[in-house]
Amino acid sequence: SKTINFKGDHQAGVITKEQKDASFIAFDVTSETLDGLETVLKILTERIAYLTQDHVLPANTDDKLPPHESGILGRALKPDSLTITVALGDSLFDKRFGLAPFKPKYLQTMTSFPNDRLEPNWCGGDITLQICADSPESVIYAVRDIIQHTNRYLSPRWKMDGFLPSRDIDNKSTAINLFGFKDGTGNASASDEKLMNELVWVTDTDKEQSWCVGGSYQAIRLIRFNLEFWDRTPLEDQENNFGRHKISGAPIGMKHEQDSPEFDKDPHGDRILFDSHMRRAEPRNPERHTAKLRRRSYSYSLGLSNTGALDMGLIFVSYQKNLKTGFIDTQKRLNGEPLERYIKPFGGGYYFVLPGLNNDQSYMGANLI
Ligand code: HEM
Repeated sequence: SKTINFKGDHQAGVITKEQKDASFIAFDVTSETLDGLETVLKILTERIAYLTQDHVLPANTDDKLPPHESGILGRALKPDSLTITVALGDSLFDKRFGLAPFKPKYLQTMTSFPNDRLEPNWCGGDITLQICADSPESVIYAVRDIIQHTNRYLSPRWKMDGFLPSRDIDNKSTAINLFGFKDGTGNASASDEKLMNELVWVTDTDKEQSWCVGGSYQAIRLIRFNLEFWDRTPLEDQENNFGRHKISGAPIGMKHEQDSPEFDKDPHGDRILFDSHMRRAEPRNPERHTAKLRRRSYSYSLGLSNTGALDMGLIFVSYQKNLKTGFIDTQKRLNGEPLERYIKPFGGGYYFVLPGLNNDQSYMGANLI
């Protein structure tokens, strides 16, 4: 089973290739003191260090005590590429801990966009964990371990599980979302270190709080799909919503997924509509060649809504060093897009991903506390 090192200047799970399964959990901190918050961050660091390594699990020797761990993995812990990424919400920088002066510059409460119908119990949270691995049981094992070790200090607020199609874990093809479209084609390449420093990671030349260097802003949007309506929509309309062909992922009128959409040769939007998701998301004006965010989304599937509709959709996740020019401005360009007829954002929030645990720190977040 593969292990991913959680240490370094940056946390794992941001530019890491997407694992197959994920769980996003937002917590509120119940402790009211800075000491309590420090304890939480220390426990999280310790559990992440433990859970991301191979272990033989401890035997239970006293049957009058609860077992040491859930037992759902048998006798051995195999992380299956587990990463656990810790981020802080803007509510953590309120009066409780005296951290207001250190709030990351762009961190704010996520407010409603025109097509949103935000449900408060699916929004916000002081701390989020993005837990990803290549099997659902490895994700669940980590979720239960963390809740068991933190429940004196953290109260879960919302949780959403995600998945990607299993045939894509060979890293060769782009994941397909629940509309049946390849999702991630135009994404900024994670292997381009220079680009990631330009788009994703806060660096020491950015005008940010100094403790933020190495971190990133995380935007999470829980978006429900109207799939009954979508599945009765003609293929041509489906494709025009995105500006791409359904099976190949190629820009409309082109053959291959990675073909350039050549907006300059289509100045009137005859081929790829001005209103298409891709053209609105990235108009590719001369001064704007690449996306200003890195997307890392998952599909979700819950039960049925109370009207009997499928409750399925997308956990949209993006990482960027500038929340405004990254997620917020992109979403503003998308406001009013025809795709909105099929989607309803109902939850999520904005968070700041802590810098990684490098050798100067004894626990994640030590530079802030
Ligand atoms: C591109 C799906 C929401 C930003 C795409 C593509 C698809 C897609 C199929 C084309 C393939 C690709 O380049 O990945 C969806 C769905 C969404 C959604 C189903 C929600 C229901 C969002 C949101 C944002 C966003 C909320 C940001 C605010 C982008 C960007 C691109 C893109 C930047 C790349 C455009 C390009 O460079 O060509 N999306 N998306 N998307 N999407 Fe979304």
